Amino acid sequence: MKVIVRHDKEEAEKVVADLIAGEVRTNPEIVMSLPTGSTPVGVFSELTRMHEEEGLDFSSVTCFNMDEYVGLGRDHAQSYYRFLRENLYERVGMSLENTFSPDACAANLGRAADDYSSLIKRAGGFDLTFLGIGRDGHISFNMPSDALHPLTHVERLSEAAVRDNARFFEDVSEVPTQAITIGMRNILESRRIVLLALGEAKAPVIARWLGSGLVTTWLPASFLWLHPDVTVVLDQGAASELR
Ligand code: GLP
Repeated sequence: MKVIVRHDKEEAEKVVADLIAGEVRTNPEIVMSLPTGSTPVGVFSELTRMHEEEGLDFSSVTCFNMDEYVGLGRDHAQSYYRFLRENLYERVGMSLENTFSPDACAANLGRAADDYSSLIKRAGGFDLTFLGIGRDGHISFNMPSDALHPLTHVERLSEAAVRDNARFFEDVSEVPTQAITIGMRNILESRRIVLLALGEAKAPVIARWLGSGLVTTWLPASFLWLHPDVTVVLDQGAASELR
């Protein structure tokens, strides 16, 4: 695993944006899996700048949302699809036909999850997965637990995850308590993985993870130790508890 520490947030974001841009230039038909949350926002802005000023071409790129809140339609103000559409897809001239998200409003959520895994498989899997990390070590919405799911599935969110995401909603009671998320195998089959963590709030989980080479279902990000091509990018805040 390659760990890159940069002095501040902007420099760390630039490392990730350059890595993604390099992959897009090498393979204009790349299939990517993308996160939401606060962490990727600066990366998406830099990719937008590269599209506008340097002609970085996303017209043949395919993107999969890695998760979606159960019950939120694609146009809901807090849906993850809308977040990616507004923060990236529309800003870099992607064809929305090449953008996918799980059907989190389906009557049969289990089937919707299976369909999403099939869709990922038909697309040939992910060339690049870009991850954030939760303060409890979750990736995508694979929550710490006794057992983890390999493929796309419905996940019950922990109280801590609901609380952490409440800042995007008017009230904590509005935060959905379930999500459809890609599974650990969907992530680990990705050819390349980059994970970005920013700020001191992430320092304890980064130290817990990178301070030990062990794999545990109680820290889902630790499964990235099993993958041959992972780059972890940290700002000084997120790296501040590493020894
Ligand atoms: C949510 C998302 C994750 C994301 C995490 C961290 O749980 N499902 O994909 O990595 O939040 O969010 P933030 O970047 O806002 O800290």
